[in-house]
Amino acid sequence: MKGVVLAGGTGSRLDPLTRVTNKHLLPVGEKPMVQWAVDFLRGAGISDLLLVTGADHVEDFRQYFADEVDYAIQQRAGGIAEALGLARGFAAGERIVVMLADNFFSAPIAQVVRNFERQPRGARVLLARVRELEHLRNLGVPRLVDGRIAEIVEKPADPPSGLAVTGVYCYDADVFDVVERLEPSARGELEITDVNNHYVRDGSLEHDVFEGYWGDAGESVDAYYEVIERVRRPHFGADSLRPVRLERFADGRGWLAEIARTSSLPKPIRQTNVSFSREGTIRGLHYHERGQDDLFVCLQGRARVVALNRETGETFCEDIGDDNFAAVYIPGNLAHGFEALTDVLMLYHVTEEYDPADPDEHEWPWDDPRVVELWSTKSPILSERDAIES
Ligand code: DAU
Repeated sequence: MKGVVLAGGTGSRLDPLTRVTNKHLLPVGEKPMVQWAVDFLRGAGISDLLLVTGADHVEDFRQYFADEVDYAIQQRAGGIAEALGLARGFAAGERIVVMLADNFFSAPIAQVVRNFERQPRGARVLLARVRELEHLRNLGVPRLVDGRIAEIVEKPADPPSGLAVTGVYCYDADVFDVVERLEPSARGELEITDVNNHYVRDGSLEHDVFEGYWGDAGESVDAYYEVIERVRRPHFGADSLRPVRLERFADGRGWLAEIARTSSLPKPIRQTNVSFSREGTIRGLHYHERGQDDLFVCLQGRARVVALNRETGETFCEDIGDDNFAAVYIPGNLAHGFEALTDVLMLYHVTEEYDPADPDEHEWPWDDPRVVELWSTKSPILSERDAIES
């Protein structure tokens, strides 16, 4: 699978910020806007990337990315689908994931890509819930019938649902033939919505709904600042498993701590669990396939949280609890678990409800050679289920 980052367009809605350089090179948090799109795609395992932008600013991008990505130049802002059409040679017959470089997601988008990998053919879009009617009127909005997209309406006066098509699109290699047959819309652009509606008619457009915060920083200066404010909140993007320190507000009675706000989390919390574990216990490892993430907090004692990216072998290890009161957000596709370094009381907020009929809990050996050295014990107390060994 290859990735295409679309960073063309005129950026007129962000004028005057875009008079000197391209919108997608403006800062958002600690990096330029476009770097977020690149990181979202890389986080989904896509590293072969093409960046499409206008001739006027391509040198700015080259200065930034050098040969980290390939480049294609769009002569004029002729629409998202036109920009996509320039990726034909780069794709070379492979499937592609396209991302608009002004789109932001509070959680990784890897699950959409995994779902597309399992899809036999066609296209896949990522939808997000949008509450404000006025906002929906500026987006692509799907009409759903029996849970499937029956049509997408671009910038509808009367939005047919409360969902928007975000700027993440997955396509089969035949998308370039679809683009070639497109006619420009009333605003003179080749519309990505027309491409997607082709797949609707073909019966091969699938979708996922993103459950967290989605923002389009290119929509207006206000939207740009809203995205900046969001990305600076704890846990945003959840790509680095950054432990977020929690504060204890103490007085004569004891203390109180704020653990989590849904607005700061990549996805909303759906269930909360507490466990007590005896010293020397390891709970895990396990991972989730249907998008459940966990927020771990050690309420009492000391716990060692360990996570493993099963594909890349990257590991994470942090002791949390009495002397490091912190919350760790763990994307569920990582194999994760914890060791009780003392007797511990552990709290975990999770983003999906547990389904006993079809649990989304998949065991992974606690002694996988890539993590075994991270535990302090070599003979942990394990549940029967966790006792599978590598
Ligand atoms: O953000 C999601 C929305 O993006 C979807 O809901 C809409 O269906 C889709 O049409 C699009 O709407 P926008 O009005 O936000 O598109 P915009 O013209 O702002 O373009 C979005 C990005 O696409 C932009 O940041 C860069 C890239 N682009 C755009 C055009 C018009 C190009 O690379 N080349 C282009 O010619």
